[in-house]
Amino acid sequence: MAILPLLHYPDPRLRTIARPVATVDDQVRRLVLDMAETMYAAPGIGLAATQVNVHLRVVVVDVSEAQNDLRVLINPEITILGSDTKIHQEGCLSVPGVYDEVSRPDRIEVRALNAQGDPVSFIADGILSVCIQHELDHLNGKVFVDYLSRLKQGRIATKLVKAERDGALPQPEEAGLSATAHNSLMRLKAALG
Ligand code: NI
Repeated sequence: MAILPLLHYPDPRLRTIARPVATVDDQVRRLVLDMAETMYAAPGIGLAATQVNVHLRVVVVDVSEAQNDLRVLINPEITILGSDTKIHQEGCLSVPGVYDEVSRPDRIEVRALNAQGDPVSFIADGILSVCIQHELDHLNGKVFVDYLSRLKQGRIATKLVKAERDGALPQPEEAGLSATAHNSLMRLKAALG
C-alpha cells in the first residue's frame, strides 16, 4: 500500500471526467487500498480517484468518528429521494483549509460495486449523503468550490496557487494514520485476499 499525492484546486486535472471501471481487477483493488490509506492518513472522510490523478470512477468514504466504517464505491450512481435539501459545511482534501456551506439533497439511494466487484446499494442521508455526493462531483470534474460565489472562487484559487508555490499545502503522511484506521485498512486488505 502507498500514500498517494493529492491534486489541489485549481489544478485543471481536477476537471477530468472519470471513466467507468470495466473490471474490478488487482490493479483497481490496489488503487482502492492506496486511496483508503491516503484518505485516512490525511485524515479525510472521503476521497475520489480524481484527487489522486487517476481518472476512474472509484470513491472511498468513511464518515465514522472511529474510522471503522470504510466503504468502497466503484462506478457509483445515486438517485435523489424526496425533495429535502440540507446545508452542510463542506471541506475537501484538494482545497485545504477552506470550509463553506453547500446545499444538497438530503436523502439518496446509492448503487455501486464494492472492492470485490459485487453490487451494493443503500440509502444515505446526513453526512454520508453529503460526502458521497461531494465525491461523485469529483468524478464528474466538479469541486465543492464551484457552488460558491465567483468572488469566493477567485479568492480561494489565488490563496491556494500561492500556497502551492510556497510549498505550504499539506500532503497526507503515514504518521496521520490512527490505530482504528489501520485496522480498517487491514480488514479491507484481508477481504481482498
Ligand atoms: Ni473533495
